[in-house]
Parts: sequence; C-alpha cells; structure tokens
Amino acid sequence: MKILLVGGTGLIGSFLKNKLIEEGYTVNILSRRKSKDSQTFLWNNDEEYIDLAAFKGVSGIINLTGANIAEGRWTEKRKEILYNSRILSTRLLFETIKKNKVALDFFINSSAIGYYGTKKSTKIFKEDNVSGSDFLAKICIDWETEALRFNELNIRTIIVRTGIVLTKHKGAFEKIKLPIKFGILPIFGDGKQVFSWIHIDDLIAVFMNSITNKKYIGPYNAVAPINNTYLEFNTKIAEVLQKKVITIKIPTFMLRLIFGELTETLTNGNQIAVEKLSNNGFNFKFKDLNSALSNLLIN
Ligand SMILES: NC(=O)c1ccc[n+]([C@@H]2O[C@H](COP(=O)([O-])OP(=O)(O)OC[C@H]3O[C@@H](n4cnc5c(N)ncnc54)[C@H](OP(=O)(O)O)[C@@H]3O)[C@@H](O)[C@H]2O)c1
Repeated sequence: MKILLVGGTGLIGSFLKNKLIEEGYTVNILSRRKSKDSQTFLWNNDEEYIDLAAFKGVSGIINLTGANIAEGRWTEKRKEILYNSRILSTRLLFETIKKNKVALDFFINSSAIGYYGTKKSTKIFKEDNVSGSDFLAKICIDWETEALRFNELNIRTIIVRTGIVLTKHKGAFEKIKLPIKFGILPIFGDGKQVFSWIHIDDLIAVFMNSITNKKYIGPYNAVAPINNTYLEFNTKIAEVLQKKVITIKIPTFMLRLIFGELTETLTNGNQIAVEKLSNNGFNFKFKDLNSALSNLLIN
C-alpha cells in the first residue's frame, strides 16, 4: 500500500516514514523543498501548486504540515504563518483531490489538544467536548473543519489531537531537558498546569492503527493516559538524570515579554481523556512518566 505523507520531513513525519517502510508500505512525501529522492514531490501553498504525481497509486494521506507553534514570538505575522500553513494547505489538498477525483481510502490529519483551549480546569476533556476560543484553539478548530471536508468525498477521516511529543532528540523535550542537565529547573507559571505528553512510539502506533483499523473515525485525543503537572514532569526528568537542581520560577510577565501570547499555552494545561482510543483496543506502551523517561533518557 502506498501512503502520502504531507509535512513528512518533520519530527513526527520522519518517525512515521521509517515505521511505514519497516511495515512494508511505500511512502511518498509532499514537501515545499526540492529533494533528490524520487518519492518526494513538490507543492507550494502560496502558488496553489501541487505536483499531481504525488497522488499516483496512493491509498491514503497523512497530513502533518504546519509551521512550528513554539518557534519564535507570536507576532501577528507569525500567527498568520501558523494559521495559513495548516488551514490553507489542507484546503488546497482537499480542493486538488476533489478536482482530480483522487480515490482515497482514508485521510488522517494531525491536530492538537490545544483544541480544548489553554485553560486550567478540573474537567477532563473528551473528543466531543466543546472547543476553546483562544488562538491555538481557533487554529485547531479551523484545521479540523478543513480536514473533515474529506468526509464529503466518502473518505474515512481521522483527526489525531496530539499532546507534546517526546522523542530522544529534537522537539520540545530536547528544549525542556536542556536546563535540567545544567542543574536548573525552570518553572513556568505555578507549575501546577497539566502537561499532556505522549511518547513518539505510542503516537506512531496511533497513526498506524488509524490506517489499518476502520473503526478509527473522527477525532482522537493522543496523550499518555496518566496526566502529570508541569512541575512533576520536570522534577521526574531531574530524578531520572540524577541531577541536583535549583528551581527557578519564571514570572509570567517575563514569559510574556519573550513568548507573547504563547505564554498562555506554557502556563495552562488541561486533563485529557483517552477512553476513545482505549475503546478501539489501543494499548499504550508508555503509560506513565517513569516508563517514558527511562526509555528516553537512559536507554
Ligand atoms: N511535535 C509535537 O509535539 C506536536 C504536538 C501537537 C501537534 N503537533 C502537530 O503535528 C504536526 C507535525 O508536527 P512535527 O513536530 O512533526 O512538526 P515539524 O517537525 O515542525 O514538521 C512540520 C512540517 O510541516 C512543513 N511546514 C513547516 N512550515 C510550513 C509552512 N509555513 N507551510 C507549509 N508547511 C510547512 C515542513 O515540511 P516541508 O519543509 O517538507 O514542507 C515540516 O517538516 C504539526 O502541525 C504540529 O503542529 C505536533
């Protein structure tokens, strides 16, 4: 079976590509950047261009595009890039597939738990709960709306609402663990905000199961089943690394100066339910922090 990975050159895409190839799939990549690899095809959202050869023989698409949410201050210009790189690109994909009558079995779109809004509450958010209203929530809502249009073409559509993805190298985890390695444990806000994470192996398993198991339809929360606070998460990293640390509280006003509106995402966090995944028979390999951090930091 051939699968097209859109944004497949990124962090999640690289792991997913390797896993798909390992399992015998053929993988095409749609990228904004030229590559010598004959299975990488070009597209350009600004020019509304997609190389149609990318779709040849493809049974399904996994869409992982998007400018990095945590990179740089959220200026109005940056917010436009974050928005357009997800919403307009997914719209272009849909319009191209519709116009060219590309027959697909499934369309899987990435999203984020930011869908529920960046707040602190005692509520545990399920997939059918109402969305938030801040900028990140708006991106997720509009992005999912574009993705769900694939249902109009009778294509099975799955949305993966992902928490912070933990990988050994790169990504958010590399940034979080760096100060701890130097003996500093920075705390954003009061540290009691829920920090919803998922080990990369489990996230890849969610995508793989979404391909093969036709019971997967609509949105799925993809985070580890045991929720931790931001302080617990960081303290556990120090413990596993056997590092003595000095805790430094970073005042919210200082975070706002550095990160702008992104600060709200760093200082708030919700509890997220994963029953919908479990009801589809999904088994997490890394259910808790001990197992995930031992794997990522020691092995
Ligand atoms: N990593 C996480 O912790 C996490 C958590 C929740 C949700 N997500 C979401 O999952 C998706 C994949 O995450 P990731 O960590 O793999 O992201 P990533 O490493 O930043 O890769 C995303 C890919 O999107 C493409 N891209 C970047 N800027 C773009 C732009 N301005 N316009 C169009 N395409 C652009 C790039 O592909 P080309 O350069 O090849 O075009 C890039 O490889 C993202 O949408 C992300 O927001 C990630």
